[in-house]
Amino acid sequence: MDTVVLAGKQARKEESIDPTLDLFEEIDRLRHERNAVILAHYYQDGEIQDLADFVGDSLDLSRKAAATDADVILFCGVRFMAEVAKIVSPQKTVLIPDAEAGCSLEDSCQAEDFRRFREAHPDHLAVTYINCSAEVKALSDVIVTSSNALAIVNQLPADRPILFAPDRHLGRFIAEQSGRPLTLWPGSCIVHEQFSERELVALKARHPRALVAAHPECPEPILRHADHVGSTRSILDYVLSSTNDSFIIATEPHIIHQMQKAAPAKTFLPAPGMDGSCDCARCPFMAKNTLERIYLSLVNNAPRIELPEDLRVAAWKPLQRMLDMSVGVNARPAA
Ligand code: 13P
Ligand code: SF4
Repeated sequence: MDTVVLAGKQARKEESIDPTLDLFEEIDRLRHERNAVILAHYYQDGEIQDLADFVGDSLDLSRKAAATDADVILFCGVRFMAEVAKIVSPQKTVLIPDAEAGCSLEDSCQAEDFRRFREAHPDHLAVTYINCSAEVKALSDVIVTSSNALAIVNQLPADRPILFAPDRHLGRFIAEQSGRPLTLWPGSCIVHEQFSERELVALKARHPRALVAAHPECPEPILRHADHVGSTRSILDYVLSSTNDSFIIATEPHIIHQMQKAAPAKTFLPAPGMDGSCDCARCPFMAKNTLERIYLSLVNNAPRIELPEDLRVAAWKPLQRMLDMSVGVNARPAA
């Protein structure tokens, strides 16, 4: 099976942009001219979240990519997210601002290694986190996000053993919550592994009323201190609906932008890293997308995600299974 290609030349970093241009106005003009929708993940810079037509977690964004009637999807997130948009909307042009926006979880799980993992466990169902390549999706039985993983695992036949890849921390958490033993792939997110339990305990001691909200990509020593564990959207819903007024946020800190906008009177503290400093766990892949790159991708119609049709169809089946099995999850319209 052929692999995914990124078509169209990515503008060079040094490509000059007229400094007198107002990039917000230009992006707005181009998105209307091209009938483009701009989707953004909560880990993008605040200014990118603010210019997007829609901001969400991985499940919300997959659904939005499948439902939009725009001709062009400009995906401000990482590559596997833009691939999902192309898999569910093959007739659309899917752009990503920076072709280098990868993911450590995707990197940890190469398709050939994953194929061997499956072959070594022929009786197992393969439940795969959406943070993986299209090739790995194509080798999976069902895809999950952190929003729907528990609901989906709970629906699988009780007599079938399960492989879970590539995030071992999310897999461990889902095994604990579902009571199903899962055979885990040893991958992890470099961002969520930055947090320090010792420093988190010290921060909690300084802010005894603060509740801790954590993403399940965090290792267990962090999750054991959490009052709430969930996807980015779920963390956002939790802090906004809580009557508490201060929170420690153990996920990529750009999500705090949405929290401060929606609840300016509340206090949101980023969970600390190993050196005790806050705000350390920034995703270097998400950070590759900038206003300049968004503008250039609309001008150049590149980089574009292109998928061979056999790969797209093979990856679409477990993704569609995910969408079918998560009706009702994140049901409230996303902000
Ligand atoms: P969610 O937004 O689905 O929680 O995913 C988090 C993440 O790490 C995306 O890369
Ligand atoms: Fe991948 Fe982690 Fe970045 Fe999400 S935060 S894109 S899981 S490296």
